[in-house]
Amino acid sequence: MSSVPVSDRKKVTLQTLQAKKEHGEPITMLTAYDYATASALDQAGVDAILVGDSLGMVVLGYANTLPVTMDEMLHHCRAVARGAQRPHLVGDMPFMSYQATPAEAVHNAGRFLKEAGMEAVKLEGGCEMAGTIAAIVDAGIPVMGHLGLTPQSIHKLGGYRSQGKSTAAARRLVEDAQRLEDAGCYALVLEFIPGRLAELISRRLTIPTIGIGAGAGCDGQVLVAHDMLGLFDRFTPKFVKRYACLHDEMQRAFAEYIADVSARQFPAAEHTQTMTDEAYQALVEELEAEPAVPEAE
Ligand code: KIV
Repeated sequence: MSSVPVSDRKKVTLQTLQAKKEHGEPITMLTAYDYATASALDQAGVDAILVGDSLGMVVLGYANTLPVTMDEMLHHCRAVARGAQRPHLVGDMPFMSYQATPAEAVHNAGRFLKEAGMEAVKLEGGCEMAGTIAAIVDAGIPVMGHLGLTPQSIHKLGGYRSQGKSTAAARRLVEDAQRLEDAGCYALVLEFIPGRLAELISRRLTIPTIGIGAGAGCDGQVLVAHDMLGLFDRFTPKFVKRYACLHDEMQRAFAEYIADVSARQFPAAEHTQTMTDEAYQALVEELEAEPAVPEAE
């Protein structure tokens, strides 16, 4: 076993993620949708950034992820790619950008790499997506799978419910996970499934699993940045740990600014440009020497 930690400052690639699984080093992934967050994540040392279609809810204010378009995804992916160099970058394929035909899926997956600086795509679904995944991988595009709670199927699932609790449902997930690995996925997100099931799947697969609400037995973890930062005030899934309360902090800062401006306490002298007495006096004299402007009728 190597004594050099796998996580150093080198660019994170698929091989880095695979090596982390093999060395038993947890993989860290978070979502980002803009330049500032991406550059903070890069500087903090995260392994991978997912530009998730969750942006539809936490950034664009949609009720769910279904309305998100390719153009919206690519726009945010480009901003993230400008902000992060070291982390592995994954773009999430939006609803109906890959379900209709494998050819359309390959075309849209390619746009994430060609036009938006991503290095891989993620898509939701089990064995029914295996052919599509194989076609995308054959085109040279790495694919991250996503099983368990798959938010693009919210209406089929009947809401944001945990998945894989019965023996039959758990068995389907184990089989789906194997099919996705066989189809060529390099990693697999497991969302909102029992911890012991996620651990079992992680042990059976050779590719890394990345859990969200799936316990500590996965090879890595991912959270929606807005949830863990407390930036999204509509709801917080129960599996999220809050590391900050930025919505409250933003509201406090905005209220302080409004109070300062209202009381003429901002801008103060240190926020204001100066002008020499000579330059100012010369301007006043020039203006006074000009004929008065006639008033408009
Ligand atoms: O869209 C997203 O942010 C995701 C994560 C929850 C894995 O798919």
